[in-house]
Order: sequence, then C-alpha cells, then structure tokens
Amino acid sequence: MQDLNQLKAEILDAAAAAASVEALESVRVDALGKKGKVTSLMKGLGQLDAEERKTAGQRLNALKDEIAGAIEARKAELADAEIDARLLHERVDVTLPPRPEAEGRIHPISQTIDEVVQIFGEMGFAVAEGPDIEDDFHNFTALNMPPEHPARQMHDTFYLPEKADGERMLLRTHTSPVQIRAMQVQEPPIRILVPGRTYRCDSDMTHTPMFHQFEGLVIDETTHMGHLKGCLIEFCRAYFEVDDVPARFRPSHFPFTEPSAEMDIGCSREGGELRIGAGDDWLEILGCGMVHPNVLEACGVDSNKYQGFAFGMGVERVAMLKYGIPDLRTFFDADIRWLHHYGFVPLDLPALVSGLSR
Ligand code: PHE
Repeated sequence: MQDLNQLKAEILDAAAAAASVEALESVRVDALGKKGKVTSLMKGLGQLDAEERKTAGQRLNALKDEIAGAIEARKAELADAEIDARLLHERVDVTLPPRPEAEGRIHPISQTIDEVVQIFGEMGFAVAEGPDIEDDFHNFTALNMPPEHPARQMHDTFYLPEKADGERMLLRTHTSPVQIRAMQVQEPPIRILVPGRTYRCDSDMTHTPMFHQFEGLVIDETTHMGHLKGCLIEFCRAYFEVDDVPARFRPSHFPFTEPSAEMDIGCSREGGELRIGAGDDWLEILGCGMVHPNVLEACGVDSNKYQGFAFGMGVERVAMLKYGIPDLRTFFDADIRWLHHYGFVPLDLPALVSGLSR
C-alpha cells in the first residue's frame, strides 16, 4: 500500500497546485472520474479475497473522501480568489468628479441671471417677477409717465390689439412695472431684484426686439443715494470678479427717479481688448436713481415716510462685457456651436464661495 500513499500525495499536490476551476476539475476527473486512478483501484477490489477487500475497501473509501474534500476546499479558495480579482478590476472611485463632458450647456443669459441673483441674494434681495404682457398703468402711468409724456416715445412699444373696453395691453418695455406691482402689494421695507424679458420694437446690431433686464428696488425709511452707490459698486466688484473697479455716477434723467444717474465703470481698451477695472476709459452699465415721490404715491406708499432707490440694467449687455461676446444678435440664433463655445457646464452652479464663473 506504499503506492497508495504516494498516489494520495500526488493527487493532493496536483489539487493544491491547480490554478483555475478548470484545472482543478481535470485533477478530479483524473482521480475520481469513471476512468480515474482511484476509481480503477476500487474496481480492482473484486479480485481480492473477503478479508483483504474489507481493509483495502476502507482505505480506498477514506482516500476517496479525503481527495473529494481537498478538491472542494480548493474549489472554494479559487472561487474566492476569482471574486477578489473581479472586485479589484471593477473597482470604482466614487470620489472622482462626475463625468466632465456633459452635453448640454447653460445659456449665457441664464448663467448671468444666476450670477446676479447670487450676488444680490447675499445682500438680502428677494427675487420678484411680473407679467410680460402689461397694462399702460404699470408700464408708464404709475412710473410718472402720464399719457402724452414725451418719454413714452423713446420706448418703441409693442401694443396688443384693442380690447372691447378700448384698453390696449402692451409688451413691457422695461422691468420697472414690477416695482409698481411690488409696492402695491407689499409694505416697506422692500428689497427686490427682478430679472425678466423686455420688449422694444427695435432691431439692429445692438438691439433685439426682445432682451432681458434686471430691476432692483429698495424702499424703507432711511435708504439714501449713498446706499445706492455702495450697493452697485459692490455688485460690480462681485460680478466682474475684479477688486478694483472704479465707478462714477453721471447725472441723467428717468421720469421715475429723482435724482437719476447712469453708472459708468472703469475699463481699458488697450490693444483692442476690453478689460474691466482700472484704466483710462469708462463704460456705461446701468441706470439708477432715488424712487420719485410720484411713483411711491401712485402705489399708495407714503412719500413723506418712505424712500429708496431703484436701478435697471441690461442682462445681455453685462453678459457681453464679462464674457467677451461681441455680437448681441448671436444670443438668439440658437446656434449649437455658439452655445457650446459661450455656454456653461450645467453642474458648475455659480456661487460666491466657489467663484461665480469657473
Ligand atoms: N427702466 C429703465 C430703462 O429701461 C432703467 C432704470 C430702472 C432706471 C430703474 C432707473 C431706475 O432704461
């Protein structure tokens, strides 16, 4: 029975050395299969006499069980190793940033609105909105532009067909009617920012019939021109992401503010390239002023008690200045290549803490 021990050692070594489930299976077939070495020894038992058959049979059975057990154990080992290898191979680093190349883009107008809302949001302004289709009272009369007021002519208004009662609605020519709507429903203090579409019958290199504006309105008992200046200078610093932005306020005229001003910011145009910040040139960016007492009174706000400021600016204009977009009309061409070039990755939301535009 010397060779039985040797056979056992050979088979167990082969099982231990099998590097795959397939290799292990052929070790099993070799030993325990129909024509396997152990199987043929068992078949030979019949030639032995009864006493010998009993001991030899017991030994062979024990050998068979031992081999089968060893093969099962090795099989489990191989299966574990296979899972480990797969886990290693299929490992995903969940801390990696999301797929960098999202297909869609945020339009520069949406991006600019988000940025401006962020900045004024930090200053405590709430976003307010109003209808695109306005009545004459909110767009003009309540803003201190009674019928026949000459300033009405400057607005190139789109009118809707006359209604049964003779009233003609219009497409709002600025976001200022939302000042009126806010003051009609809300007690001061009021601090709102109004992004929205505006319409004027005008179309050339620098005008499109539909464009966007921001309106700002602050009404309380103490707000004065100094607050207006501080607020808008701070806005320009944050929006253009430049610490040193010189600003000047030029006297101007709007029927709904008194005094009225236009705000210019410093820039340089060296080498044909526009740069916002200290320079020897000025760029007009918005209109503003202290809300006219007539406007407060038209909304039922006591002008002896309350005062405040308002401002309005063009969204496309500040987007063009910040992002170097040369032609206004391209904003509305819906050209996918333009959008890919000037648009923003949707997952990069503008925030003051992380940088508005990255
Ligand atoms: N509504 C003015 C315009 O469209 C801008 C403006 C708003 C000016 C508020 C002063 C105060 O030109």
